[in-house]
Order: sequence, then structure tokens, then C-alpha cells
Amino acid sequence: MSGPIQQESKPVIELKDVKVYHHARTGGLFRPNIVKAVDGVDFTISRGETVGIVGESGCGKSTLASVLVGLQPPTSGKVLFHGKPAIKRNATMRKEFGRSVSVVFQDPATALNPRMTIQDILTDPLQIHGIGNAASRAAKVKELLALVGLPHSAAEVTPSQVSGGQRQRVAIARALALDPDIIVADEPTSALDVSVRAQVLNLLSDLKKQLNLGMVFISHDIQTVRYVSDRICVMYFGKIVEQGTASQVFDNPSNDYTKKLLGAAPSLLHI
Ligand SMILES: Nc1ncnc2c1ncn2[C@@H]1O[C@H](COP(=O)(O)OP(=O)(O)OP(=O)(O)O)[C@@H](O)[C@H]1O
Ligand SMILES: [Mg+2]
Repeated sequence: MSGPIQQESKPVIELKDVKVYHHARTGGLFRPNIVKAVDGVDFTISRGETVGIVGESGCGKSTLASVLVGLQPPTSGKVLFHGKPAIKRNATMRKEFGRSVSVVFQDPATALNPRMTIQDILTDPLQIHGIGNAASRAAKVKELLALVGLPHSAAEVTPSQVSGGQRQRVAIARALALDPDIIVADEPTSALDVSVRAQVLNLLSDLKKQLNLGMVFISHDIQTVRYVSDRICVMYFGKIVEQGTASQVFDNPSNDYTKKLLGAAPSLLHI
């Protein structure tokens, strides 16, 4: 293998034995008062691959996502960014991390500022990172809208004036504004009308290929995860209990919980 190719396959983010413990308010004499939201997870994500994380509600998927995007410091364990410890106090690294790793949340209605026009929403990350001038930012907004399949006229309206599926496209465009290496998508289609879920899913997987992004795709729906992922991690009570290629996990599940997940209700996507 030549140098640059090896470079590309190196993980952008690496988690080593990451734990996130919360003190729960329900704690009492007979119940443990510590919630092990993430309990000893090793994980890597590189450009060009989609890793699916699947598991039932409360198993720690969103907590793991917050660690991956730098929003949640782990209780213990290591977060490496391009092979180096991601240190919160280092402003340069924090900025670089923010540029390199972006996130798409479940509900675009709450993730996007309702008072801002879509133009401003997409310009905001460029301004914060001091990228370009007014003209180049306007050009970038045009490019982003085209990339996610929105008409240019969408720039002038606010998020509430477009449909739910279009709003999620805006959130995806915003996540792409800084040309990230990795996108973490936490249940990106769950809040959407069933009729537009497949479109948004296809958009994400097309963009990932087109831009050679790394994508962490989180869902409680194993069929959706299978559809987009190269590799799948099954989470259960804060741990990754099974991982492998989609076909390894589906054709030969080694873990009892995975077998149970596979036997659960069929996907609404019918794929
Ligand atoms: N700030 C917090 N304080 C206490 N407990 C928390 C906190 N954040 C998350 N938890 C708990 O950690 C566990 C994991 O939560 P998390 O949101 O990561 O699960 P999830 O897999 O994303 O679930 P869902 O599919 O419902 O989104 C849950 O038991 C949750 O109640
Ligand atoms: Mg969640």
C-alpha cells in the first residue's frame, strides 16, 4: 500500500475503554445510583466507512455519540483524535476537532434555530471558524444546498417554513459546512415522516460515498442500520456486545441479544 492510502485508513477518532457513568437521581438503598451509560467501549471511525450503532433505548448510543463529537468527557478511558489524546483545554485541537467531526441529531426542529434563515444557519459555522469572506460563504451556501437537494430559494426562509424532511436536509447541510471528516448521525430519520425516511437515508449514504466521509450511524432499528453500514456495533447496557460486517452480524449473530434484536419487529422501511 502506498503512503497516502494508509494515511486515509487511519482512524480519525479512537475510543479506548471509554466509560461514562452518571449519578442517577433514582438512587436509593435497593437500587444502584450509578448509571453506566457507556461501560468500557473500544471504537474507531475512519474516513470512507459507515459504522452503525444499534441497540435498544437507553443502552448508551447517544452518550457514545456525545463522546465521539466531544460534547461529553468520558468518566474514564481515552479519546484519541488522529492518534493524539483529545485534550479539552487545548483550544487549537478543540477547534480542529469541531471542524473535523460534526453531528446530525434526531429532531431538526429543535436542532436548528427557528429565528434564523437557512442562509444564516449555513453561514454560521463558516463565520465561527473564520472561513472565507462574504462572497465565498454565499457560494458555499449555494453549494451546500445543491449537495443536499434543496432549491436555492430555501436560503431565504426559516426552518419552520420547510417540511420535516427538508429541515433534516438543512441540518445535514450544516453538518457538512466545514468539510468534516466524520459525521455522527444520531437517529437521523426517527423523527421524520415515514414517507421521507428512505430519501434522507439515501441522501446520507450518497453523501458519504461522494465526499468519502466517515459516518457513525445510530439507530434502534437494526434494518436501517444494516442498510447503510459497512460495520455494525451492537450495544447492550453500555457495552458493545457484538461487532462485525453487516453480513457477519446478520448471518451469524454470536450474541443472544443480537439474535433477539434481529427477531424483533420488521423495519418500517421494508428493505
Ligand atoms: N445526564 C444524565 N444523567 C443521568 N443519567 C443519564 C444522563 N444521560 C443519560 N443517562 C442515562 O444513560 C443511559 C444511556 O442513555 P442514552 O441517551 O445514551 O441512551 P440511548 O441508547 O441513546 O437511548 P435512546 O434510544 O432512547 O435514544 C440511560 O439509562 C439514560 O437514562
Ligand atoms: Mg439516543
